[in-house]
Amino acid sequence: MAYISESGNTKKVAQAIYDEVPGEKDLMPICDVPDSSVYDLVFLGFPVHQSGPDKKAIMRMSQHCVSGRKVALFITHGAPEDAPELPEWLDKFKKAASGAELVGFFDCQGQMSKPVKMVLRLSRDKKLRDWAKIDNSQGQPDESRIKKAREFAREVLGKAGQKS
Ligand SMILES: Cc1cc2nc3c(=O)[nH]c(=O)nc-3n(C[C@H](O)[C@H](O)[C@H](O)COP(=O)(O)O)c2cc1C
Repeated sequence: MAYISESGNTKKVAQAIYDEVPGEKDLMPICDVPDSSVYDLVFLGFPVHQSGPDKKAIMRMSQHCVSGRKVALFITHGAPEDAPELPEWLDKFKKAASGAELVGFFDCQGQMSKPVKMVLRLSRDKKLRDWAKIDNSQGQPDESRIKKAREFAREVLGKAGQKS
């Protein structure tokens, strides 16, 4: 189980998933993973940065999402889950991970940090300024989303042939 998380949202989801996984397991920032080939199943978590995975996330996915590896992705984003742009953003993660066997995908809203909101508020792009105004991500991921993350973990474990 590995993640990138700057303000802690993706880490929170990672912890919830981790708690559902039985047996031998590890939880760590993705930069600390020396070799993911030793795992039967790898959960990888990233935040959406500027409408998709940032360069670091793409680099890590190309490193760990390779042929023969079972990978489940979990993503957090400031936009609500029903935002019309979201499928396109999330597809970029799926594409970046397509070298592996993708056995699960989960996404949920994660609170936008104050600095991010400030940048949006000051943006020249009206769409981004408007988005900062209507932002409803405060307090996310909340308990209901964490519960969904746990359900996701159990589903993936079932599919990947591991018992929870
Ligand atoms: C540089 C930057 C860019 C972001 N761009 C987006 C974006 O395009 N769409 C979105 O929904 N959220 C965006 N966010 C918000 C994060 O995806 C969201 O708050 C996420 O839950 C942060 O996860 P973390 O706490 O694990 O870092 C951005 C955040 C940062 C720091």
